[in-house]
Amino acid sequence: MNLHTSMLCAVMLVASLAWPTAAVAQAAAASAPAQSASAPPPGMGSEHSAKGADTCLGCHDADSDTPAFTTAGIFKTRHAHRGDARTPFGRGGLQCEACHGPGARHSGGGNKKLTINNFKAGSFLTVQERNQPCLGCHQDQRRSAWHVGAHDSHQLACTDCHKLHTDQDPVRAKGTQPEVCLTCHKQERADFQKPSTHPVRFGQMACSDCHNAHGSTSPAMLNKPTVNQTCTSCHAEKRGPLLWEHAPVAEDCTLCHTVHGSVRPALLTKSPPLLCQQCHAAAGHPSVARTGGALPANGGAGAAFVVAGSCTNCHTQVHGSNHPAGAKLLR
Ligand code: HEC
Ligand code: HEC
Ligand code: HEC
Ligand code: HEC
Ligand code: HEC
Ligand code: HEC
Ligand code: HEC
Ligand code: HEC
Ligand code: HEC
Ligand code: HEC
Repeated sequence: MNLHTSMLCAVMLVASLAWPTAAVAQAAAASAPAQSASAPPPGMGSEHSAKGADTCLGCHDADSDTPAFTTAGIFKTRHAHRGDARTPFGRGGLQCEACHGPGARHSGGGNKKLTINNFKAGSFLTVQERNQPCLGCHQDQRRSAWHVGAHDSHQLACTDCHKLHTDQDPVRAKGTQPEVCLTCHKQERADFQKPSTHPVRFGQMACSDCHNAHGSTSPAMLNKPTVNQTCTSCHAEKRGPLLWEHAPVAEDCTLCHTVHGSVRPALLTKSPPLLCQQCHAAAGHPSVARTGGALPANGGAGAAFVVAGSCTNCHTQVHGSNHPAGAKLLR
């Protein structure tokens, strides 16, 4: 039985069982806006269906499911916990219509696509109107900055990331979340393929370990107020307190590191000695220009300054030192 025949059955059901409230509601919804002979304007009206989910499921039964979507999938999720009064299916809840909006008009005649919140781009509802039911229940601490975040200001819908008719919402699992984000964030897709990255590609970390996709007041919607607080929430040993700090480390890790990926080891933005020489002049120190002339084969004396780790061959403690004699970050 396809959706249309099931719809027909339900219409017949409505007729035979004669739901007075539903019929009245439909009549009211249909006559509310300016009455004209042409098609009624899009809108949900304000009347709810007579029997809640039972009304909806009369048409949206298993026969209307597709491989990608099952209506009853919603019953496998937290949203259908009947014992939890905060959920749509809790006591007194509006069930399907808590999310999809008042459904009497949709359940009656008329254009099915112009009478219900379908959560799709191209709906007759604006993105703010589509997000409203979700925010109505979820504007809690985790989403307190939704309206200052880049996703809201770039018109993202909750459903650009979330799938609700399934207990396996890909964006909420570490292994599958990056794929959701990377469909839009192409630059990051490329970065995470580079040889040095955080283990996001292997499902061990997710974007949400550093970012709050729901917006935050921090730069780049980070979970923590600053870049360094974000990094040291895992790399605690780089936070100190240290006897001998290296100034740029305490200031901002991204002075030397990229965050998403680098072709250099350890996510570095540049390789030493160039990395170090952005800030440290050669003067007063035998820091030698990075030329072949410095190499032993060419009779160069300053090889230690240019080969392999160069500066970090001696200055091993780039992140600062706790050794009493570590002022020059040598130990
Ligand atoms: C009389 C049958 C009937 C009833 C009752 C009914 N629907 Fe529908 N619904 C349809 C049909 C038909 C479509 C259009 C399917 C299509 O063309 O893809 C549809 C489409 C939808 C869509 C997708 C709209 C879109 O633009 O893709 C949603 C969401 C929906 N219904 C939710 C509900 C909810 C929630 C209820 C209960 C309040 C409900 N329906 C009750 C028949 C019904
Ligand atoms: C917690 C919110 C929520 C509840 C409750 C809910 N839905 Fe949905 N529904 C959604 C969202 C969001 C979508 C968009 C697709 C997705 O995210 O899975 C959707 C999509 C749909 C679609 C359109 C599928 C398509 O792709 O055309 C139908 C039909 C539908 N829901 C029917 C129902 C029915 C019937 C119920 C009650 C039994 C219900 N929904 C309960 C949020 C909800
Ligand atoms: C009537 C209130 C209500 C509405 C409307 C609602 N939710 Fe929820 N939602 C809840 C409750 C309650 C929970 C369970 C929270 C908990 O366990 O702490 C929940 C859980 C969730 C979860 C976590 C699911 C899980 O399995 O733990 C996500 C994601 C979510 N909602 C997203 C949405 C989105 C997106 C929408 C809009 C399409 C929406 N919700 C609409 C009340 C609602
Ligand atoms: C850019 C993608 C994205 C968008 C847009 C998005 N979310 Fe989420 N959401 C996530 C991710 C990732 C998680 C899991 C990690 C986390 O909690 O940050 C999540 C988790 C959740 C949860 C369960 C955990 C919690 O925070 O309570 C709820 C509820 C939720 N989202 C609601 C919403 C609502 C409501 C909207 C729209 C206002 C929305 N989300 C928009 C990505 C998104
Ligand atoms: C539907 C497309 C889309 C999806 C999916 C998406 N984003 Fe975004 N995101 C955007 C747009 C658009 C912007 C704003 C323009 C920009 O910075 O690229 C943005 C911006 C951002 C920013 C920068 C914020 C700032 O203040 O500069 C971060 C961080 C971000 N997204 C993280 C995520 C994460 C994490 C996910 C997955 C959980 C995700 N995005 C999923 C579209 C998306
Ligand atoms: C290890 C922590 C971390 C992880 C994991 C991470 N990011 Fe970031 N991301 C950052 C930091 C820190 C910044 C700010 C960079 C800066 O200030 O130079 C940032 C910036 C961004 C921006 C803004 C870029 C811009 O040019 O303005 C986007 C978009 C973004 N991240 C998306 C993602 C996505 C998508 C993922 C997952 C695939 C992800 N990030 C994983 C830490 C992280
Ligand atoms: C959620 C925890 C977490 C956060 C937050 C985090 N990291 Fe990491 N970091 C890791 C893990 C896990 C590894 C991989 C360690 C391994 O492979 O042994 C790693 C590895 C690294 C590496 C070495 C990469 C390589 O190729 O050897 C650098 C550098 C690094 N992180 C810098 C940062 C910076 C900078 C930030 C802040 C923007 C940051 N991390 C935030 C967990 C985190
Ligand atoms: C002055 C440049 C510089 C700054 C600033 C910097 N790092 Fe590093 N970092 C390096 C260099 C160089 C390496 C490679 C170490 C080596 O070759 O011995 C490295 C390696 C790492 C590694 C991987 C090896 C290890 O020691 O675990 C992590 C993790 C790391 N840095 C985290 C951070 C964090 C977190 C911050 C900010 C608090 C930070 N770095 C700031 C230069 C810097
Ligand atoms: C973003 C700029 C910057 C980068 C890049 C940088 N440094 Fe520094 N470094 C500083 C500053 C600022 C100080 C503190 C200077 C002072 O106190 O006079 C410092 C101090 C030092 C000191 C101690 C100097 C002293 O006089 O006690 C050493 C050694 C050092 N850096 C080595 C390195 C090495 C090795 C690298 C490359 C891995 C590096 N620095 C990269 C800015 C930088
Ligand atoms: C062969 C070992 C070695 C290498 C390689 C090396 N340094 Fe040094 N560096 C030292 C020693 C030893 C001192 C302490 C000198 C002193 O106390 O008078 C020092 C001191 C410094 C100081 C503090 C200068 C001052 O006047 O006190 C800076 C800054 C510095 N090095 C940066 C670098 C940079 C940048 C590189 C790479 C281009 C580098 N070093 C490579 C051994 C090395």
